[in-house]
Amino acid sequence: MTDWEQRIGRRYLRETRYQRDSCGDRLTYPRAPLYKEYPAASQRLPLDPEAGQVPADLWECLRRRRSQRYYQDRPLTWEEVSALLWATQGITLATRGYLFRTAPSAGALYPVETYLALHRVEDATPGLWHLNVPQWALELIKPGDFRQPLVAACLSQTFMGTAALACIWTGILNRAMWKYRERAVRYLFLDAGHICQNLMLAATALGLGVCPVGAFFDEEVERLVEVDGQEEVALYLAAVGPLSAGNHKP
Ligand SMILES: Cc1cc2nc3c(=O)[nH]c(=O)nc-3n(C[C@H](O)[C@H](O)[C@H](O)COP(=O)(O)O)c2cc1C
Repeated sequence: MTDWEQRIGRRYLRETRYQRDSCGDRLTYPRAPLYKEYPAASQRLPLDPEAGQVPADLWECLRRRRSQRYYQDRPLTWEEVSALLWATQGITLATRGYLFRTAPSAGALYPVETYLALHRVEDATPGLWHLNVPQWALELIKPGDFRQPLVAACLSQTFMGTAALACIWTGILNRAMWKYRERAVRYLFLDAGHICQNLMLAATALGLGVCPVGAFFDEEVERLVEVDGQEEVALYLAAVGPLSAGNHKP
C-alpha cells in the first residue's frame, strides 16, 4: 500500500465498512444520555413550534437554495429563529420514548447538539445559547459578543460575524457509538448534513441566507461552546441572516 492509502481517512473508511462476515468489533461503549440540558441556565426562552412558518413551494426552494454570505444589519425576529430551528430539529412525533424530528438520524439517537451564537436577534440577549430539544427552548450558556472569536475560529471567515446568528453543531460520540461503534462517526456527519440542509431550505422559504461552514479550528469552536472536544466534538457550523445585496441571485 502507498503512504497515502495508509493515512487515517482511508483507513477509517476501510475499517468501518460493513461486510457480510463482520459488522465491526463488539467493544462495549458507555451510553450517553439522549438529551443535553443546562438546568442552571440564567435565561430560558421558549420556542414556538409553529411560529414563523410561511407557506412555500418545496421545488422552488430547492431551485433557489444557495450558500449566501452577505447579510443585512437588521436583526432576525424570534419568529424567524423559531421557524429555522424547528426546520432543523423540530419534534414531529413523540412515541416509544423517542422524539422524532424534522431531520432523520441513524437509529433515532440524535447525537447532534445545536448551539447558537446569537449576534442580532430581537428580544434575545446576544451570547451563546443551547437548543434544549425536549423543552423546545433556548437556554443561555453565556452572554456576550462572540463575533470576533467565532470569526477567528472559522479561519477568519468574516460572514460568521456579520450574520445575525451562527449555528454550531456538535456530536456526542457515545450517544451513537454504544450502538454503531466506530461506524457511528460516519453517521454523526451525515446527521449534521441533514440538519444543515433543512436549515438552508427553511431559510430559502423565509427569504433568509445561510452559509454552511466546515472550515474551522475545532478546538477554538469547542472552547466557545464549552465542550470537551473528546466526548463532544465540533462537527459543522452555519451563518444565518437576512439577505443583502452581493449574494448569488436566488
Ligand atoms: C461540508 C461543507 C462545508 C462548507 N464549508 C464552507 C466554508 O467553510 N466556507 C464557505 O464559505 N462555504 C462553505 N461551504 C459552502 C460551499 O462552498 C457551497 O455549498 C458550494 O460552493 C456550492 O454552492 P451552493 O451551496 O450555493 O450550491 C461548505 C459546504 C459544505 C457542504
